[in-house]
Amino acid sequence: MRKKIVAGNWKMNKTLDEALALTSEVVNMIQDEVRGDVEVVLCTPALYLTTLKKYVENAPKIALGAQNCHEKASGAYTGEISAPMLKAAGIPYVIIGHSERRQYFAESNAQLAAKVDSALENGLTPIFCCGESLEQRQNEDYVNVVKTQLTESLFHLSADQLASVVIAYEPIWAIGTGLTASSEQAQEMHAALRAHLSSKYGSEVADGISILYGGSVGAGNAAELFACPDVDGGLVGGASLKSRDFTDIVKARQ
Ligand code: 13P
Repeated sequence: MRKKIVAGNWKMNKTLDEALALTSEVVNMIQDEVRGDVEVVLCTPALYLTTLKKYVENAPKIALGAQNCHEKASGAYTGEISAPMLKAAGIPYVIIGHSERRQYFAESNAQLAAKVDSALENGLTPIFCCGESLEQRQNEDYVNVVKTQLTESLFHLSADQLASVVIAYEPIWAIGTGLTASSEQAQEMHAALRAHLSSKYGSEVADGISILYGGSVGAGNAAELFACPDVDGGLVGGASLKSRDFTDIVKARQ
């Protein structure tokens, strides 16, 4: 049985006071309304994670995640945070390779491979993001583009290591645009990625990997996306900033 996961990626949003208010609302709503077996991950700005820990420590379904980490353990990398720091702070998840990091911070597949290694060495669960641009989608080569992202950043891992990775497929053209992939488009890519994992690691390993969909997931489209057999949950941007919308998305996955 694959883990069902709904992760919120807050990106660079919310002041501290707003973050505390949103987290307490989400914690209360999830505790009151969600009975099913779903893991909720709040990927907030790193600055707030240690403060938010006490808000989620009595909420067994809810965990915290960072939105990025550096590939090195420590050193002269002004402004960065490392996987050992997240581990020491008790933060279990980290998003790696979000398209905004790839686009605005020029993160390469090779660098992301090193980040995945550092996360795994420190016992963190990487939420590894992949996805094609609009231009790539229109070139009809989009499946190979995303398969290559997996090959170059994950295929050096052992099967045991891969089993600790969560994958998030986020077509760039669907992020923040209100343009969601249709459930057919999501299922096509998720199945192709699972087959790709299977070709290297075998079907037993591939069948155990949670693959989340991200890109304009909202309360109105979550149930249809989550009904796809290879869509195991969601990575939610804008809608994770509203407690009602986010909780409704979690309820659609339980
Ligand atoms: P939106 O849900 O705002 O489209 O963002 C998706 C995303 O990038 C999550 O990581």
